Amino acid sequence: MRTLRLAVAGLGRLGFRHAENVAFRLPGVELAAVCSLNPQELERAAQAFPTAARYADFDQMLRHDGLDGVVICTPSSLHVAQIEAALRAGLHVFSEKPLGVTAEECQHAERVVAEHPNQVFLLGFMRRFDPHYLYAKRLIEEGRIGKPFLVRSYSLDPIASLESVLRYIPHSGGLFLDMAVHDIDLANWYLGGSPVSAYAVGGSFSSPEFARYGDADNACLVLQYGGGEMAFIYAGRTAAHGYHIETEIVGTQGMLRVSSVPQKNLVQIFEGRGVLQECVGGFLERFEAAYLHELHEFVRCVRSGCQPEITVHDGTLATRVALAATASFKERRLVEL
Ligand SMILES: NC(=O)c1ccc[n+]([C@@H]2O[C@H](COP(=O)([O-])OP(=O)(O)OC[C@H]3O[C@@H](n4cnc5c(N)ncnc54)[C@H](O)[C@@H]3O)[C@@H](O)[C@H]2O)c1
Repeated sequence: MRTLRLAVAGLGRLGFRHAENVAFRLPGVELAAVCSLNPQELERAAQAFPTAARYADFDQMLRHDGLDGVVICTPSSLHVAQIEAALRAGLHVFSEKPLGVTAEECQHAERVVAEHPNQVFLLGFMRRFDPHYLYAKRLIEEGRIGKPFLVRSYSLDPIASLESVLRYIPHSGGLFLDMAVHDIDLANWYLGGSPVSAYAVGGSFSSPEFARYGDADNACLVLQYGGGEMAFIYAGRTAAHGYHIETEIVGTQGMLRVSSVPQKNLVQIFEGRGVLQECVGGFLERFEAAYLHELHEFVRCVRSGCQPEITVHDGTLATRVALAATASFKERRLVEL
């Protein structure tokens, strides 16, 4: 089996984890190159991945000799241009979510991906690779809850990471595109379609910084689908107890809940204040397995010449809904899609 040579662009909060997974946890794969604008991150990479070439320029990295693919984990507004450059350079592409930050650039990405049918494109909606979300999907497909008609989904960052989130807000794309986009994709996946209307409300309750960027630190979104199905999504940046990702799927004959208590592990602490269950601390901890599984799937697709189940169009749909939610929140109106 030939060694696959991958590069990772972006070595920030998530990119470094992707680089570790590529370097150490994917059999038959080599981390050939990394790229970051941040010299400290490149220095850290030099220590962690001494054999990987280091670049401060994405296009130069694409010209690195013998690359097979690239993992894009740069700010969301760069994804589409970098996806295009990498595909045109003949590489397979894994890109972090969201696909793009405007509907037009998502449509452009769809055209570019369609022009390169023999190269793999995988969009990192990692919840679809989480064993618990996959289990729920299988139960739905087996008919265990009848026909699903409502998804209720929460994505809450811990208030403990507010400082790092505040640094990240200017290029995050906003709460709906950055956080709720995961729940939107899940709702589309479980309900089988995409919404026809969106209504969102929200506010800055903990930090005025969010309002300064026209963003919210906590917001709710109600979606309605073509067959009348519904989704209720709550996204926030200020959960006191930790990183809280919870999803409920209600069907005509039952309902499923995934992680209604976002517990860190199975240990319960019985002590003076009562019985405690510690909470997951952040996305790297909660989705550790999913981040690895999505890269395994990327490699499997590259080796077998097939395309992943998640399509570039799924990325467009999720971005369009997130943008509709943002418009609804800012303009205080129902947005038809
Ligand atoms: N799937 C998830 O759960 C999840 C979690 C966090 C972040 N993300 C996504 O990952 C992406 C990165 O997020 P982050 O939190 O790691 O960001 P970050 O700000 O921590 O890191 C961004 C990285 O991109 C690099 N970069 C910036 N401009 C560049 C350029 N022109 N060329 C090459 N590199 C460049 C920076 O040097 C840095 O290394 C975002 O799109 C975000 O939505 C996804």
